[in-house]
Amino acid sequence: MAFPVVDTEYHKEIEKARRDLRALIAFNNCAPIMLRLAWHDAGTYDVNTKTGGPNGSIRNEEEKNPEMKKLKIRTIAIRNHDDVVELAGVVAVEVTGGPTIDFVPGRKDSDICPKEGRLPNATKGNTGAPHLKDIFYRMGLSGKDIVALSGGHTLGRAHLERSGFDGPWTNEPLKFDNSYFVELLKGESEGLLKLPTDIALMDDPEFREYVELYAKDEDAFFRDYAESHKKLSELGFDPSSSRSNSVAKDSTILAQSTVGVAVAAAVVIVSYIYEVGKRMK
Ligand code: HEM
Repeated sequence: MAFPVVDTEYHKEIEKARRDLRALIAFNNCAPIMLRLAWHDAGTYDVNTKTGGPNGSIRNEEEKNPEMKKLKIRTIAIRNHDDVVELAGVVAVEVTGGPTIDFVPGRKDSDICPKEGRLPNATKGNTGAPHLKDIFYRMGLSGKDIVALSGGHTLGRAHLERSGFDGPWTNEPLKFDNSYFVELLKGESEGLLKLPTDIALMDDPEFREYVELYAKDEDAFFRDYAESHKKLSELGFDPSSSRSNSVAKDSTILAQSTVGVAVAAAVVIVSYIYEVGKRMK
């Protein structure tokens, strides 16, 4: 599929989608699943074959992830599905009190879902840190990115029926802060979850250094998280060389503006969202 034409009209659609997403997430309390959706779409990227990544393929019928299949995103005026999926992740972090993440539109949609098995497996406890490195280095991300992005577990919870794990990582799972790292350093806490891959962050000396830094310095976490999230959401997408180039400057200003221009774009997210929203309340 071709890159979208990122013209003024497209920017307006993106801004409208941003506002729709804010309202939708606030109404349904569904920031965690929106962040996870954006991560699962982007996290399939393979830097060597240049396949997978944030290309909206998670919307396709053959997408195997059952929880993601239940999440129906229908875009009306937005021409590019993946910009909406990644925008949802950025908005989810922002509306729960996290850092502002720079968002540049113009990703190319794909109809091809990568084969299963590209995302990390939480039960690979025995291999822990090496497993995380295998997966994230394949995406072209760094050790620092692994730790910062793992901080995404400051939002949401695991569900027994979906993953076999249960419970939230923090006491306030709808607030984006550095408490994931604070809890990780505390060790076992009643009612709070630590996946084997979360615990692996404590075993590797490079990872642990960042865990300790982020637990004591929330600003450092927010700075690094915003940078790593932007990298994740742009894997395989070079804003400066895409057709968004002509309006690249414009895009940042427009994308970060809280006062956008209303147009006829609408993002409607149905069914599953309402279920998740009810559970999170
Ligand atoms: C490092 C490797 C990772 C592993 C092994 C992992 C694994 C998991 C598992 C098992 C769940 C529970 C699913 C359920 O039962 O509902 C989960 C939830 C979640 N993950 Fe991750 N994850 C990883 C990285 C990330 C990253 C990088 C992000 C975002 C930047 C992220 C965001 C989330 C969120 C927000 C939830 C909560 C979803 C909800 O409340 O429904 N995860 N993850």
